[in-house]
Amino acid sequence: MAERLHDDYLHFRAAGMSLVLDCTGGLLPRVVHWGADLGDLTRDALAFLALTEAAQVMSCSLDEPVPVSVLPQQSAGWLGTAGLTGHRNGEDFSTSFSVRSVRSVRPGAGEGPVAHRLTVDAVDGQAELALALEIEVTTSGLVRQRATLTNESDRPYTVDGLLLTLPVPGQATELLDLTGRHLRERSPQRHQFTLGTHLRENWRGRTGIDATLVHVAGESGFGFRTGEVWGLHVAWSGNHRSLAERTPAGVSLLGGGESLLPGEVRLAAGECYTSPWIYGSYGHGLDELAGRFHGYLRDRAHHPRSPRPVTLNTWEAVYFQHDVSKLKALADAAAEVGAERFVLDDGWFQGRRNDTAGLGDWYVDKDVWPDGLHPLVDHVHALGMQFGLWFEPEMVNPDSDLARAHPEWIMATGGRTPPTARNQQVLDLGHPEAYAYLLERLDALVTEYRIGYIKWDHNRDLVEAGHSPRGTAGVHAQTAAVYRLIDELRVRHTGLEIESCSSGGGRIDLGILERTDRVWTSDCIDALERQQIQRWTGLLLPPELLGTHVASPVAHTTGRAHTLDFRAGTALFGHFGIEWDLTLASAEERARLAEWVSAYKRLRPLLHSGTVVRADHPDPALWLHGVVAPDRSRAVYALVQTATSVQSPPGRVRLPGLDPDAVYRLSPLPPGNSPEGPTGYALPWWQGDKVELAGRVLGTAGIQAPALYPERMVLVEARRV
Ligand code: DGJ
Repeated sequence: MAERLHDDYLHFRAAGMSLVLDCTGGLLPRVVHWGADLGDLTRDALAFLALTEAAQVMSCSLDEPVPVSVLPQQSAGWLGTAGLTGHRNGEDFSTSFSVRSVRSVRPGAGEGPVAHRLTVDAVDGQAELALALEIEVTTSGLVRQRATLTNESDRPYTVDGLLLTLPVPGQATELLDLTGRHLRERSPQRHQFTLGTHLRENWRGRTGIDATLVHVAGESGFGFRTGEVWGLHVAWSGNHRSLAERTPAGVSLLGGGESLLPGEVRLAAGECYTSPWIYGSYGHGLDELAGRFHGYLRDRAHHPRSPRPVTLNTWEAVYFQHDVSKLKALADAAAEVGAERFVLDDGWFQGRRNDTAGLGDWYVDKDVWPDGLHPLVDHVHALGMQFGLWFEPEMVNPDSDLARAHPEWIMATGGRTPPTARNQQVLDLGHPEAYAYLLERLDALVTEYRIGYIKWDHNRDLVEAGHSPRGTAGVHAQTAAVYRLIDELRVRHTGLEIESCSSGGGRIDLGILERTDRVWTSDCIDALERQQIQRWTGLLLPPELLGTHVASPVAHTTGRAHTLDFRAGTALFGHFGIEWDLTLASAEERARLAEWVSAYKRLRPLLHSGTVVRADHPDPALWLHGVVAPDRSRAVYALVQTATSVQSPPGRVRLPGLDPDAVYRLSPLPPGNSPEGPTGYALPWWQGDKVELAGRVLGTAGIQAPALYPERMVLVEARRV
């Protein structure tokens, strides 16, 4: 590990990305360049780069140029969204930090996912505040930063907001962000990056079912494979914001931070506030941008590396109808098709016969389970599967012993109780006793039942989330407390895996993923909807972190019917599972499902380590996505007909991501190799000899796609010869 002190220009390079920082003049760092690799640059070249970036002073503006630092300050002349907002009873509302030290460290190879680390210590003597900035570049080429603000005065300082930014060049003229709702997370929306601020702010007290995950600015018409793109992610599971701001002075930037409720962070003497990590990813095309997130996640020491077990989840199979013999039969059927993990969902604890009661009473229901969960757990273990259990720790039904005993543990303010959502309220983890109760319950149950996996749910937005007795705002403390709770549980139970679920994909961010092992991508398991939800969640997360299940023939949330091949082929590109009452499935269906399970087991080493690729195909009804092995020796592609096409036959599709100079043999991949389509005529290459072509040809000219019925897909494998 090499450590150096600087007050100069810094150039960090990783995986084809350059970040150039101007740390001169005792000012907070300014980003001179964030984007494509600039190559090896001398100190003089970096100084010239900074000089040529500096603009002239124009009429009707300040008489000095306005340096925009990663934490933009009004004292420097910045009149856009401020980096730090806060005050001491109305005073010290504006800051001017001077840098005391700049330290850069280059961790050695193999020392985790960080390639370069910069720490900047600054102080504002007048405002009596200290600021520590951490700016890191990961080996995958992400930039991430966070700030710690310390109150160095005896008088309290209230933090209203802390925003960290990264500039993007003027070429970024389009924005992409994601929105959505329950059962339809991650719907993309695109617009011009016009002058002004495009703000995505979330006050839901959880990451949000509509969270953008990544806020992207890019060149006009950018796609998965084309156009330069810059994206920002806020790694925080509570209130947060991200913005894209463009000023008439030619500054364009992306920014992000936690959104704080009034009075939520009030620093007494010596206390500090640390912002969440704010991530920036640059790419030539969205695939590269996503690949940097995937690479970073995979480089973490605690990234799940064991083969992702085929999971049967009981929710859509039985809902609240818990019956031991039925569940044992389901476990038998699960084991028969090759499942490796069995997860008992909602409905097992005291008084929980439906969603109106029981949340908070984390004791096994004696009426339904007179012998506890042991008969089922033992059965599952005897079948060679791991046992997992559902919890929703932060929630409480007013109709529960817990709520009756501790009404003061329910988050509220103003002497009123917030409106319920799914008949529930939020348990205030800011109360040490409530926190201790949950830790004890979770710990005891995990120990007693040798639970290997928790599905950790969170099914409502936080409304008026006050902390009793005074009703002070408590979302920040709640978010920090749930992180602590999960961390503590993981320390006590090495190897315990946790899924982050929140009405489906309502808590997906890199903050929760520091301490969980996958997400429940959506409550909607309709394969057609899942194609789009998984595609866009994949902007942040690699396939192995996405819970993807095969549901019943008719989707419970949309009423659409899909073939088993379409359902399973869609679930293949994630952490594969089943959420279907297999005791009702026919022998043929189970046999076919078992084939898909075997295919998943064969393919998971590739699917969970490779590079995710998506073609920019002109026909909006034909999607092609796939995963290419890290050494590009092999790839699996899915050709998905999402609707009927205007054109028929479909035409050529490109197979992206292959080594241009290598030759690949193409073959339709069973069990997803039978095109069911509107013509009885065979596609020549599909039926004929195995095609062998260079990656350059396959990625440029492409191959004729088979004509498919809508809502069908096929798989194609490319193997280097
Ligand atoms: C919402 C989750 O997203 C579902 O998968 C299921 O676990 C239910 N909650 C149970 O209440």
